[in-house]
Formats: sequence, structure tokens, C-alpha cells
Amino acid sequence: LSGREIRETFLNFFAARQHHILPSASLVPEDPTVLLTIAGMLPFKPIFLGQRSPDFPRATTSQKCIRTNDIENVGRTARHHTFFEMLGNFSFGDYFKEQAIAWGWEIVTKVFSLPPDRLIVSVFEQDDEAFQIWHEQVGIPAHRIQRMGEDDNFWVSGPTGPCGPCSEIYYDFHPEQGDATIDLEDDSRFIELYNLVFMQYNRDVAGNLTPLQNQNIDTGMGLERMAQVLQGVPNNYETDLI
Ligand code: GLY
Repeated sequence: LSGREIRETFLNFFAARQHHILPSASLVPEDPTVLLTIAGMLPFKPIFLGQRSPDFPRATTSQKCIRTNDIENVGRTARHHTFFEMLGNFSFGDYFKEQAIAWGWEIVTKVFSLPPDRLIVSVFEQDDEAFQIWHEQVGIPAHRIQRMGEDDNFWVSGPTGPCGPCSEIYYDFHPEQGDATIDLEDDSRFIELYNLVFMQYNRDVAGNLTPLQNQNIDTGMGLERMAQVLQGVPNNYETDLI
């Protein structure tokens, strides 16, 4: 699939599931706590915080992003760049963990046709519920669900603001290396494709977490990373998008 087809396929999948397709917001956000739009969720921050009512309970976007928080990785890895597009599906107090995981797995394995045995998932170390959904409902073997700490699997958009535990889907470039040692930090073997954030807290300046009024879903799939995998090229720079 071309990058354009991947983008359209993602948006159409979620539009068919009652998500409103919205255009990408400006790279220069209204939000004064960040310099640039770093993720698909940024334009929705006031909704997650209960400061603005959503026009729709579900939305899907392909958001243009500049990931200032990953900028030190640019030029060091084959998968980080300054500018990229993040595909996302969002629920504003509507569906939550179980549905986000079910649709996430469906689009990756049934629509983009990635073989389940090339996929590994991670969950926040304390999130037994996400672990159980992946294991019991989706059928992922327990050893292919990695529990990870706050740095990797608790998503925050900045020092303060809406946040929550997350669960990520990784693609395995080298399944022949076996399951004995699965190290998701090994970027010669794994690439994170899709992050499902269970957005349910607000973090204040002192680091305290307060439950949000609603349980929300915020997701991010790297368009260029998905293109790299589906186009079978060695890095993001060699996809048709770049
Ligand atoms: N908001 C989810 C992500 O950027 O990964």
C-alpha cells in the first residue's frame, strides 16, 4: 500500500465505526504548554480535560506532528524524524479499553494484514485489565505481552495535562530470533507501530494524578512506520512518503 492508501484505509476503517474524520490541526497549537503539535491528541486536550464539549463522541485524524520530545533520536535511529503524520482514533467518554484494543488488533491484522505472529504488545506494568484483554479476548500468548514501566507505557502529552496508561503494538522484523529474549528496546528487531492510550487522568504541576471526568481513548499510529513495514523497505526514509 502507498502512504496515501494507508492513511485513507485507517480513516475509513474508523469512519465506518462512527468516527468523524477531522482535518489535521495546525502544527502551531493553541495550547500554551507546548511549542508544537506533538501528537494527534493535542487538539483534543480541552475535550479530555472537560473544558470543551466534543462535537462528536468519536473522531479520527491524520495529524501532522513535530515530536519535540523525541527530537534527540532524530538522525540516530531509522524511525524517528522531525516531521511525521500520526493516525489516530479518539473516544471522548465513549468506548474505552476493550473496544480500542479489539479495533486496534482488527485493523492491524485483518485490514493491514500483518501476521499475528509478527506482533508483540506491551502494557503498563500495573494494568492487569489490559493484559487480560490481550490475553483472554484477543488470544495473545502471555509471554508476548510485555509489562513495561512508566517511561514507556504511561503516556503524557507534557509536564501537565491529560494522561494515562498505554498499550503498544510492535512489529517484529526478526521472528527467527525466537521468543526466549524479547527486548522491545532492540530497534534492530522491533518497531512500535501503534499506541493505544487509556486517557483517564490529569497530571498537575506537582505530579499528582486526578481522574478525568470521562474515560477516553487516544491512539497514535505512525504513518511512515506503517508504510515502512507494509512496503518492506529498510527505514522510514525509503517509503514513498519521503
Ligand atoms: N498520544 C499517543 C502517542 O502520541 O503515542
